[in-house]
Amino acid sequence: MLNNADTMLQVLDRPVKKVPALQGLTVCNAFFENSTRTRTSFELAARRMSADVLTFAAGSSSVSKGESLRDTVEVLTAYKVDAYVVRHHAAGAAHLVARYSGKPVINAGDGRRAHPTQALLDAYTVRQEYGSLEGKKIAIIGDVRHSRVARSNAELLPKLGAEVVLCGPATLLPEGLAGMPGVRLTTDAKDAVRGAHAVMALRLQQERMSGGYLASLQEYADHYQVNERLMQEAESGAIVLHPGPMNRDLEISSEAADGPRSRILKQVENGQAVRMSVLYHLLVGRD
Ligand code: CP
Repeated sequence: MLNNADTMLQVLDRPVKKVPALQGLTVCNAFFENSTRTRTSFELAARRMSADVLTFAAGSSSVSKGESLRDTVEVLTAYKVDAYVVRHHAAGAAHLVARYSGKPVINAGDGRRAHPTQALLDAYTVRQEYGSLEGKKIAIIGDVRHSRVARSNAELLPKLGAEVVLCGPATLLPEGLAGMPGVRLTTDAKDAVRGAHAVMALRLQQERMSGGYLASLQEYADHYQVNERLMQEAESGAIVLHPGPMNRDLEISSEAADGPRSRILKQVENGQAVRMSVLYHLLVGRD
């Protein structure tokens, strides 16, 4: 899928950014939780390959009247949807949509569990920089506890040969992740970043915190903010990543987010190509 994303980037560089690969197929973007990057990039990815796109936003739907996930999916499937892209606040929701619809489903983020296409685009962005992930150290710093991005990256990046170091205050660093192959946990940000080739800041997900996780935001920023001072510990050409959305000057300084090391907008750009590749793989090219 990462190799095919190279081809998709070439398509996106053409004056006419469209291919007929998914002509006649309908992709439903079913978003039960807010999104900017994932929703828009999946929508564009499907349109770039000539699919029809049905965008379903739960907030303006009959879900707000109490309609169940099952009934909602059965209604949408009756329109002859060929595949779903699903974001939901509950872990496992994408599996339920697959069960209720009998259609291919791409998980676009479920609760704190997984965000696989984000991990793919992160891997793609590091690979674009270095040619390979083999032997690369990737530090992921911040609210690991609530992060589906951290979990998916911890699963994917070691499979591609990288070492992953997850870092944050002890209250935001679940020990259950320690046993994953190729993954190390630390509460020391300098230790995490030392010799790293890529440093990813994670958003503090205050909407998922009911209190007691942090003494103060200022104290958090003092110890864990990804900024130029912390980046001094990394490899000289190390890049800065953030899956977005960012709390600027909290988990990442504006200087680091906008500076020459930043590949944050490159992640966004690559997201469209990677998601085109995923849709193609799922609907056309698996064999
Ligand atoms: N990274 C990410 O999933 O961003 P959105 O919530 O804007 O889709």
